[in-house]
Amino acid sequence: MKMVMKLHIKNFGCQMNKLDSSLVCSALVERGFELVETSEDADVILMNTCSVRQHAEERVLSHLGRLKHEKKSRPELVVGVIGCMAQRMGAELAEHEAVDLVAGPGQIAQIPDLIEEVLASKGTVVAVSEDIRVKGSDVERVGLDEFEMAYDSDANHIPGQAFVRVMRGCNNFCTYCIVPYVRGPEVSRKPADIIKQIRKLADGGVKQITLLGQTIDAYEYAEGGKIYRLGDLLEETSEIEGVEWIRFITSHPGKFDAGILEAMASLKKVTPYLHIPAQSGSDRILKAMNRRYTAEHYLSLIEKARQMVPGISIVSDFIVGFPGETEEDFEATVELVRKARFKNSFVFKYSPRVGTHCEKKLADDVSDEVKKERNIELLAVQNAISEEDNLKYLGATVKVLVEGLSKKPHLNKAENDDNPQLVGRTATDHIVVFNGPERLRASFADVKVIKTSALTLFGEID
Ligand code: 5AD
Ligand code: SF4
Repeated sequence: MKMVMKLHIKNFGCQMNKLDSSLVCSALVERGFELVETSEDADVILMNTCSVRQHAEERVLSHLGRLKHEKKSRPELVVGVIGCMAQRMGAELAEHEAVDLVAGPGQIAQIPDLIEEVLASKGTVVAVSEDIRVKGSDVERVGLDEFEMAYDSDANHIPGQAFVRVMRGCNNFCTYCIVPYVRGPEVSRKPADIIKQIRKLADGGVKQITLLGQTIDAYEYAEGGKIYRLGDLLEETSEIEGVEWIRFITSHPGKFDAGILEAMASLKKVTPYLHIPAQSGSDRILKAMNRRYTAEHYLSLIEKARQMVPGISIVSDFIVGFPGETEEDFEATVELVRKARFKNSFVFKYSPRVGTHCEKKLADDVSDEVKKERNIELLAVQNAISEEDNLKYLGATVKVLVEGLSKKPHLNKAENDDNPQLVGRTATDHIVVFNGPERLRASFADVKVIKTSALTLFGEID
């Protein structure tokens, strides 16, 4: 290998992907790679990709188009495509002129070796799971578990915060979703491993732990005659010194049980925050999505959450323009958003994914124009709610975990204040922007809210 190889990782996906990128980064830095901020300076570029919507894949393909040209002037540049799109497309991606390495989410532990293989052979290397729905062998599972344990830095993340995977994969088979086909079946990690890892992170100064799972409320691990569930993990994590805030994402409304709410209500460190996607407010569409709950069930679930965990903020995802979605179905979704009063909602236009039930059986029959209109309308309804609900913070002092410098500096610059503009989040995950010294990064600050908007609270140090 060259003296010091420079590595650049681009991330296109969700938190799961960001975590994978961090693991891969830590492993490569341990092998002597140096992490660089821009792809122009890199000897190896890895793109950690997402397949959840067509748009995410298109962005990767357009980057690859650019890299194809860059490789003409720098033929020694190594380009790897990793993550969900690598698993979905496999050998097809390897045919792209820019690509030297293709590795799926189940192969992240092998990436350092695979890069060395590419460097030694100058050929293209492909490593993806052959039959993704078959649970990996014990050797593979142990390999992934060990790789996970080695992660003790947050090079790719926000200082003072860390993400810890509690399970991989998904067994839900929502009819639109590619995830079960690219991330494989559900496998929960051993509780003792998770706790050991969190201890290590807390010893290294991490204050906020976010437990990650595609359907985290389905976490289940049988050991010594006991079945460990998410509530048990929350309880054990709460006991770890140094950990101050605990989050968990993402919950499935069909799996959510009172045990989790009880844990949230009784454990002070667990933040009053729930990301629990509804996807639609129409029972007909929910059925076609194979979500296995009704709008009424969903609403009663969040009502219960609000009773048991006062002040809880609830966040949802929605897909608009699902096959067959009528104006009436969409109105039911708007109605649900009005009733639920989410803190915020992520709204996506339906995108057919190859191999899913929807793509095979249902016509993508809502026009892009209508999808766009519904997307805008739903966001407008949500925004009005967020704007109204955020007003209750006006004049209040909130506790904020500071992330660092705000990307939009000086929006809130007060006269005679030389401090930069910082950004952080409350326990309820509200974004707070305020002026303060940079040394506050990764620590808690009390901030008095002086202005609010739909997405941000603006304040000053109390
Ligand atoms: N089209 C559009 N949005 C999708 N999502 C998942 N699959 C699709 C798809 N095929 C959305 C869901 C999910 C979020 C991560 O992405 O709302 O909760
Ligand atoms: Fe994450 Fe799903 Fe996208 Fe994969 S396909 S990166 S699991 S959102």
